[in-house]
Amino acid sequence: MEYKKLLKNQAFVNGKWVQATAGKSFDVTNPATGEIISTVPDMTREDVRHAIDAAHTAWPDYRALTAKERAALLRRWFDLIIEYKEELAHLMTLESGKVMTESLGEVAYGAAFIEWFSEEAKRTYGDVIPAPTPDKRMVVIKQAIGVVAAITPWNFPLAMITRKVGPALAAGCPVIVKVPSETPLTGLALAYLAEQAGFPKGVYNTLTSKDSGGIGKELCEHPHIRKLSFTGSTPVGKILMEQSASTLKKLSLELGGNAPFIVFDDADLDEAVQGALVSKFRHNGQTCVCVNRILVQDSVYDAFLEKFTKAVQGLKTGDVLEKATQIGPLINQKGLEKVQEHIKDAQTKGATITTGGKVKEGLFFQPTVLAGATPDMLIAREEVFGPVAPIFKFKTEEEAIQLANDTEYGLASYFYSQNVNRCWRVAEALEYGMVGINEGLISTEVAPFGGIKESGFGREGSKYGMDYYMEMKYLCFGGVQ
Ligand code: SIN
Repeated sequence: MEYKKLLKNQAFVNGKWVQATAGKSFDVTNPATGEIISTVPDMTREDVRHAIDAAHTAWPDYRALTAKERAALLRRWFDLIIEYKEELAHLMTLESGKVMTESLGEVAYGAAFIEWFSEEAKRTYGDVIPAPTPDKRMVVIKQAIGVVAAITPWNFPLAMITRKVGPALAAGCPVIVKVPSETPLTGLALAYLAEQAGFPKGVYNTLTSKDSGGIGKELCEHPHIRKLSFTGSTPVGKILMEQSASTLKKLSLELGGNAPFIVFDDADLDEAVQGALVSKFRHNGQTCVCVNRILVQDSVYDAFLEKFTKAVQGLKTGDVLEKATQIGPLINQKGLEKVQEHIKDAQTKGATITTGGKVKEGLFFQPTVLAGATPDMLIAREEVFGPVAPIFKFKTEEEAIQLANDTEYGLASYFYSQNVNRCWRVAEALEYGMVGINEGLISTEVAPFGGIKESGFGREGSKYGMDYYMEMKYLCFGGVQ
């Protein structure tokens, strides 16, 4: 049980491992077995204030480090994450139910943000602006925004932390990470590795709590937090935005999605089936970019349905620690009930199940395909966040685009077509922050991840990622002779 080396049962504040000041704690359970894995501090707003004070105190010295020094810290952290990838993946699988192969994939994906931003740290270039008069010189510089708070979700216990703190730390900002109560252990292990990497006291802080509302409110309202980055649901994102108004806090919000996956009649159907499979069933359907609606052109509908159903029947459910397992449990009972509610609603409105549809055991649900889905169903409007694939039918390209855009969300979208003109037309017409064209997996550290409409704003990763953690300052030199 090598992962135990990384198993922490305290939070990390101001360079120390601490309990909650109120002395409370809560259990972390394994969704695959229901067993308790560990107990962590149940912190309160008072604990948040301690962390904010520590980070605020650490800021001047940390931002004064050279970019090269910050890059070296991040690189050391990256090397440690890679050194402990098996242990981190094991811990992640235990607390989240993510199957081992995907957990290993997430560690690599998450670590890549640290590597990427260790490189970007040195490239936060400003600008020289040609002045409008001869006696002036004008320059734009970029500076660290200040203390950053990151509130991260349970579905990516590692990568959603690194995607936020990577650019923040690279820019010169101390961070406070509120890890999710369902999966705090991977985040605490990450804090331990950050400590080993040598980040100065107060620069990297990690809080655990059941009181997400209270912690979020404190982070939003405290004037020393200059930037808050959140990944989670749209309703919670709206609350955080409202609470941040009093301090006019800068926000990045990566919120819910309702991803369409369009299969045109000129698509390579086998590739479309594979694309839909990986995109729909990644982490058992529990990602914000998972396909939520599969829209198939009428002339290829039956053929796609048959091939896709067969592919879904081939998915392997079982022991999440086994590397061959592809489908794990849902995160909790509430998640399971949502899946059941969506299926029931779809059935009463005419959908039929071609495979799956039942609880296997505990929180394990059979991968399910629903034929004959229609826009009036709950599953067409809400993120199912589970292993259910509804298949809709459309006739024309215009109808497909209209159906795809008929949602308040705008995170990820996908379509399959072999016609290059159609590819450009549809890509430009889809109202989404990200479009996969003949591709079901689009997430990478090198590209900007983020949404439009009620899926939020801000972009994570890529060359654009640093800008969200820096302020632009204009310098005007007058009286130049
Ligand atoms: C998410 O589900 O919030 C993130 C998914 C990803 O990074 O691919």
